[in-house]
Amino acid sequence: QVRIAIIGALPEELEKLKPQLGSAKSINHGPFQYEECSYKNINCLLALSGIGKVQAAMLVQHIADIWKPDYFIFTGVAGALNEEYDTGDVVIGTEFIQHDLELNALGFERGEIPYTKEKVFHACDFLCNMAESFHTENHKTFKGRILTGDQFITHEHVKPYFTEELAGDAVEMEGAALAFVASRHKIPFLVIRTISDRADGNAACDFNTLLPLVAENSCYMVKHILDSI
Ligand code: ADE
Repeated sequence: QVRIAIIGALPEELEKLKPQLGSAKSINHGPFQYEECSYKNINCLLALSGIGKVQAAMLVQHIADIWKPDYFIFTGVAGALNEEYDTGDVVIGTEFIQHDLELNALGFERGEIPYTKEKVFHACDFLCNMAESFHTENHKTFKGRILTGDQFITHEHVKPYFTEELAGDAVEMEGAALAFVASRHKIPFLVIRTISDRADGNAACDFNTLLPLVAENSCYMVKHILDSI
């Protein structure tokens, strides 16, 4: 049986998926709570990380250690950097960089993990292709590069390097942390993000209004993957 750990940062990001996977068993493990269920022939773990790189990294490390998934899938929302993206569109994250990791003064590139030469982390092609085969009439799907950092980005934080230097398409707060930890464990992963805002002056308002409405788009794509795998 294939084992897939599915993570969201906030309850809204998982709630449309949970009821579709059937009955689940709740598990408490130290500071972690998650639910385990069987869907078709797949063993699923559903977990909330909370917001930010530290919480995401901590949860992914824990799940890698004790549950040993074959795949990680993260589902949630993101702010758009790419002007082609509209709210409600779905971004399949193919590449991940920590935009707030900066040791320029020591000669490292922005986002580079010091002394490792690693900077861009790559999602699993197999899962990306499966995600891409999901179409609906309500929104567009893109493949894109996701930038991750411990900031909610509004217009005053957006710097030219987001798009010029790092070539980011969308920005969020967990993806590159999951990408880093999963890659260290050689566990293939996928991150699916629906656009909730444009990381601009209206980002906070759009995020609050649209999060509960659009997060389900990513959930439907995850469900499609579970049905196809
Ligand atoms: N997630 C959704 N919108 C975001 C933004 N503007 N900045 C960071 N993370 C986000």
